[in-house]
Amino acid sequence: MKPNQLFRSVPPVQTWLLATWLLLTWLQASGVAFGQGKPAANPGATLFEKQCYGCHNVGGGKKTGPDLMDVTTHRTRDWLHKFIPSAQGMKNSGDKFAVQLFSEFSPIVMPDQTVTPDQIDQILSLIDELSAKKQSFAPGGGRKLRKPTPKDIPKGRMLFTGETRLRKGGPPCISCHSVQDVAVLGGGTLGPDLTQVNMRRNDADLTGVLKSPVLPTMSKVYLKAPLMDEEVVQLFAYLQDVKGRTPQPTQNSSRFFVLGAFGSLMLLSLMNFTWRGRLRGVRKLLLRERQP
Ligand code: HEC
Ligand code: HEC
Repeated sequence: MKPNQLFRSVPPVQTWLLATWLLLTWLQASGVAFGQGKPAANPGATLFEKQCYGCHNVGGGKKTGPDLMDVTTHRTRDWLHKFIPSAQGMKNSGDKFAVQLFSEFSPIVMPDQTVTPDQIDQILSLIDELSAKKQSFAPGGGRKLRKPTPKDIPKGRMLFTGETRLRKGGPPCISCHSVQDVAVLGGGTLGPDLTQVNMRRNDADLTGVLKSPVLPTMSKVYLKAPLMDEEVVQLFAYLQDVKGRTPQPTQNSSRFFVLGAFGSLMLLSLMNFTWRGRLRGVRKLLLRERQP
């Protein structure tokens, strides 16, 4: 074979470029390349996790609200479409099932949900699917959180107190909650003390609350600024760590006193330091003025 012939049998550069481009496009479209390999999440599952899972299980027992396993066979589609966006309206209209549910779950009431009819259908088909398979809903669209390690505890504490800012810009937990922890001082009282929250709520329930905050007050703050998965793991590790402690309000106040005293001392010495500096400056100035 003459060199000339060999050269002609190799496709021109343009062909190679085209082939590469086609391959890349195909890879991208099929989601293999560029980190898009995850399967598309079920839209019903995403919605359910974000708006309902904080109060409802599908399988696994009741939480704040009833377990929704098989609800699509117990109630008509029509009823569900009316109830979900306006549970309280249904009760007020005297609907038999709604009145019964409300008395069973009183004093908690299901807040009216802002969901479109399409979104309700997506959620209901998720419930259908899980009920048919007798499968419980697992939050995270199957996406599992990693197991917390001891290293997460101090990180969780820093997130709790606001020393580390929450990535999506939500307020630190301490502005509404307190915990019994020598390293954490006081805290807000709008929300309940969280020292033993991991005894009131089991692990899955607690991570659920953190991942999709649908509790009435919490949702106002964190629906738009949700916690990142890493933050959930770290906060969970921290709350798991403090659960053995007993809330002791008296210790809190004595600690406040000691810290207050220490704080004032620091402030005084700081002022003293600043003041001395200024005096010296003035004195120097006066001396300089006196100089012939
Ligand atoms: C803040 C808690 C809370 C949230 C969030 C919530 N629910 Fe509820 N849900 C309840 C409670 C409590 C009841 C029982 C009725 C009552 O007391 O209001 C209930 C009842 C229901 C029922 C009736 C169950 C039955 O056995 O007939 C359905 C269906 C339902 N919820 C669906 C949803 C869906 C879907 C979402 C999300 C879009 C959702 N809920 C969000 C608390 C909640
Ligand atoms: C704006 C105030 C506010 C902030 C900030 C806040 N919470 Fe809450 N939290 C509440 C209130 C109020 C409740 C009681 C339920 C409700 O009304 O939402 C609550 C309930 C809870 C519960 C359930 C408590 C129980 O006894 O079952 C947990 C867990 C929780 N919060 C964790 C957190 C964590 C972790 C953070 C920080 C990332 C945080 N909260 C930030 C106000 C707040």
